[in-house]
Order: sequence, then C-alpha cells, then structure tokens
Amino acid sequence: MSTSSQSYPMSGGDDQHSYIHNSSYQKAVIDGVEEKARQYILEKNNLLNLMKPDLSIFTIANYGCSIGPNTFHAVQSITDTVKLKHMKERQEISLVPLEFQVCFNDQANNDFNTLFRTQPPSFEQEYFSVGVPGSFYGRVLPRNSIHIGHTSYTTHWLSKVPEHVCDKKSPAWNKNYIHCNNLIEEVTEAYKVQFRKDMSVFLKARAEELVPEGLMIALGELFICFIFIFLYLQGVTTLEKIELFSMPMYFPQYSELKRAIEQNGSFTIEMMETTSHPLEALQLTNDFITLMFGAFLSTMIEKHFGDFVVDELFDQLAKKLLKHPIDFEKCKKNMVYYIILKRK
Ligand SMILES: C[S@@+](CC[C@H](N)C(=O)[O-])C[C@H]1O[C@@H](n2cnc3c(N)ncnc32)[C@H](O)[C@@H]1O
Repeated sequence: MSTSSQSYPMSGGDDQHSYIHNSSYQKAVIDGVEEKARQYILEKNNLLNLMKPDLSIFTIANYGCSIGPNTFHAVQSITDTVKLKHMKERQEISLVPLEFQVCFNDQANNDFNTLFRTQPPSFEQEYFSVGVPGSFYGRVLPRNSIHIGHTSYTTHWLSKVPEHVCDKKSPAWNKNYIHCNNLIEEVTEAYKVQFRKDMSVFLKARAEELVPEGLMIALGELFICFIFIFLYLQGVTTLEKIELFSMPMYFPQYSELKRAIEQNGSFTIEMMETTSHPLEALQLTNDFITLMFGAFLSTMIEKHFGDFVVDELFDQLAKKLLKHPIDFEKCKKNMVYYIILKRK
C-alpha cells in the first residue's frame, strides 16, 4: 500500500495560473520522446502476448499525472500505438475487441476533479479512466495489473526533505540555500541518500505492479536551472524562515539513475538516453518563466511561507526579470533523460 509522502501538488483549477496552462515546458519533452516509445513498442516488443486472448484489457498507469493536459497526451500516444500494433498483429486472431483501462495516479491532494472534468471528449471512446490517489513511493495498484506504466517530471519530488538539511546544528544544514546546489558536501550527500531510498521504493513498487514483460516509461530532467527564483525570497520573507526551509526536490545524475535501476534488478533497460531540452533553442519569455514556476512551486512556497508570500514573490520576480532578464545561455545545461524499462 502507498506510504505517506510530503506532497505539494501543482496549481489546480484551470485559470491562467494553473498547471493546465503552464506545463508546456514539460510537454515539449513528452512530445520529443514520444516517437521513440512508439517505434520501440511497434517494432521491438511483444506486449500484446501478455494479454489473454479471451480478455483483451490493456491497462496503463500514469504515475504523478497532475491535472493535465500532459497526462492525457502521454496516455493517448500509448493507446494509439498499442491499437496500431493490435491492428497489425492481432486483429484476426483476437476473440474480443481491445479495451483500455487507464489509472491516473497522483497524491490524494491533487486536483482530481479538474483532471476528470477536463478530460478530452474523445476519452470516452478510447479508454476507461480510474483515479488512483496515493504516493507512488509505495504500492498504489494491484500486483501484476499494469501493462505499461508512464511517468514524466515526477521522481525529482522526493518523498521528504532529507534529514538534517533544515537542522541548524547539523553539518548537513543547508544554511540559507533552499535546494541542493552542490555547495555543501554534506547537504549533497543527504539529498543523494534520500533520492537513492526513494528511487529504490519507487522501482520496487512498479516492479510489483507491472505484469512480467510490462513496460515502464520514465522521463524527466537531470539538471534544472530554476534556482534563481529563490534569490528573491529574501525580499519577501525572513532569513530565519528561509534557513528552516529546503525543497524536497533533487535532480539526479545519469549514473545515479542507472545505478538505482541496476540495484533494483527487476528490469532490463531497453532504452536509456539523454538529450537537451527541446525548448532550449527558444528564447523563453519572462512571463513564461514566472507563470511556469508559479504553477509548480506555489503550493510548496505557500505551505512554508504563507500565501501572501507567493503573490509578492512572483510579483517581485516579474519586476526584476524586466530589469535584469535571465541569461538563458547559463541555463542551457538542462538535460532530459528518457528511459524504457521492461519488467523481467
Ligand atoms: C511537475 S508535475 C508533472 C505532471 C505530469 N506528469 C507532466 O508531465 O506534466 C509532478 C507531479 O508529480 C506528483 N507527485 C509528486 N510526488 C508524488 C508522489 N510521491 N506520489 C504521486 N505523485 C507525486 C505531483 O503531485 C505532481 O502532480
């Protein structure tokens, strides 16, 4: 069963500040890697053999789905590909038509109402939807029940802030930094340890939920250049509050991810690649940056610093960005990873 986990959902609802309208940065990566998954499923995989001929239910899980639209997009791409494969390979021999069940997982405080209210109208013909609340750092679905799992931009959220990084007496105290910036060795180590623990739980749970030979598709970022935002926190709250805050967020190195998968031992790595972020070549506008960070960080900032801080912070950020635009050249280190695992 799902274990508890610190939880900061994306901004809910569907107004201009919500995640729905500010998730194109993540979508660009999902789009960019979609074709690779398609090719892999169509050409190198015998997924359809996993279904019983008299019970053609194909089950997909999206872990950390948030409120859309990216999750719908990812799911649609998988159902389209599996349908095509089914048409090519199975139609004549299959006894009953192929049906899809899609399990949308996120923390219980995710805005599931908005998620289901904004499902694209076509979903009714495409698949049956199920909401699965609970932390993916633990089991959220029955054993051997999922043919394809998908997760994007999720596992950089740790299950909790690493121990001691908010403890002023500890050598791992993160001072007035609020994320792992590799400046204090003990802090980096604390984040790494937490990431290893969390990844191990995540992979163990997925290995149990996937059917043998089922696929797990995962993508996310190895490094992200967002930290400048917090330079402005000092203007809107007290130093003491900042010193007691650190984000439960860690962007791993490629080798750390690979080691976690190998140590888990339940999967073969079918594909594991890195690439630069597809939007890297574009000049992101200040508005884009402010809205995007607002949509995915507001809940966390609000919880620790109070809701009045959020508006003030992003207001100040917008003003400062006008005067001193970000040097995007410095941010061009954002590397994206893309993994397809097969359950042994
Ligand atoms: C940046 S959003 C990504 C949403 C979507 N997958 C996408 O690519 O646009 C991260 C999501 O992961 C969810 N999340 C974080 N930790 C989680 C956990 N332990 N269990 C389930 N969901 C989690 C958050 O609530 C949030 O909805």
